[in-house]
Amino acid sequence: MDDLRTRYIALIAAAQDEAALEALRVQAVGKKGEVSLQMRQLGKMTPEERQVAGPALNALKDEINAALAARKSALSDAALAERLRSEWLDVTLPGRSLRTPGTLHPISQVREEVTAIFAEMGFAVAEGPRIDTDWYNFDALNIPAHHPARAEMDTFYMARAAGDNRPPNVLRTHTSPVQIRSMETMGAPMRIICPGGVYRADYDQTHTPMFHQVEGLAIDRDISMANLKWCLEEFVKAFFEVDDVELRFRASHFPFTEPSAEVDIRCSWQDGTLKVGEGDDWLEILGSGMVHPKVLAAGGIDPEQWQGFAFGMGIDRIAMLKYGIPDLRAFFDSDLRWLRHYGFAALDQPTLHGGLSR
Ligand code: PHE
Repeated sequence: MDDLRTRYIALIAAAQDEAALEALRVQAVGKKGEVSLQMRQLGKMTPEERQVAGPALNALKDEINAALAARKSALSDAALAERLRSEWLDVTLPGRSLRTPGTLHPISQVREEVTAIFAEMGFAVAEGPRIDTDWYNFDALNIPAHHPARAEMDTFYMARAAGDNRPPNVLRTHTSPVQIRSMETMGAPMRIICPGGVYRADYDQTHTPMFHQVEGLAIDRDISMANLKWCLEEFVKAFFEVDDVELRFRASHFPFTEPSAEVDIRCSWQDGTLKVGEGDDWLEILGSGMVHPKVLAAGGIDPEQWQGFAFGMGIDRIAMLKYGIPDLRAFFDSDLRWLRHYGFAALDQPTLHGGLSR
């Protein structure tokens, strides 16, 4: 027994992994292990012999099991210590500069450019949720239920739980609901733009189901259509970094503005490239008009005291025009080669004095 004990305690202490320990366990105290075989001999002993050998064998078995368990936990402690050592990571180290740095998506770039231009004209930036209520997206904007404008927008509706009879929430179809939210929180007078993502079920070269708009809203006591026209012309010149761009104001209709105008920009499509300011084509870039009195009232602003203009411009559209990107769908393909080609250096903040796109 002493021989068994010395041998196994030494073997266990030398075992290098769990598999070796398991093999030793089977060999020593498994069903056919050496200690178990000894225990089978107990039957052949005299009662006196058995009284001594029985407890001694049991003690030996316990001792070997305890040694196995101790060695197992020592091995796993060592494995953990090794992992902690080799996987150690200093999260306070500065980032490594990459040979192919990431670039800013043209939409982020254009959004910054638009914000810089309107900030210079005194517009603050407002935001609203992309999932909005039926009321903010439609009713408050003078688009009641069953109004044809709802169908024209190809709205994505959110699901409601069974038995919930409230009108479904929508993925906002335009940034105009932020007009109402801003009127509620800021009151009059005010000047805001709201850039952000919007959704409509539409898909072709100039339409994607998620796209971006920037809403503009200016409210004061004596704002007119002339102010709107000046603002947009100033914006377009600054944005396209040219002295003259031809705009076309077309009479139009929106339920939330009266009168309303859509604005197109002169452009040409040559060999699949879009050029701004020349050619015989027009690309629609925005809808606009004087805010409807009912919309002011819905936002808690007295239409007898205040009036204003609003516009909603397609960010993706003006990005395509400015940077000659022929297909809108490529904006959302996440193709790295495309991003490297059309992307912008991440640390160049567009400003009017520093140059917008340089
Ligand atoms: N919300 C309109 C659209 O998405 C654009 C618009 C905004 C028109 C503000 C007039 C005033 O088509």
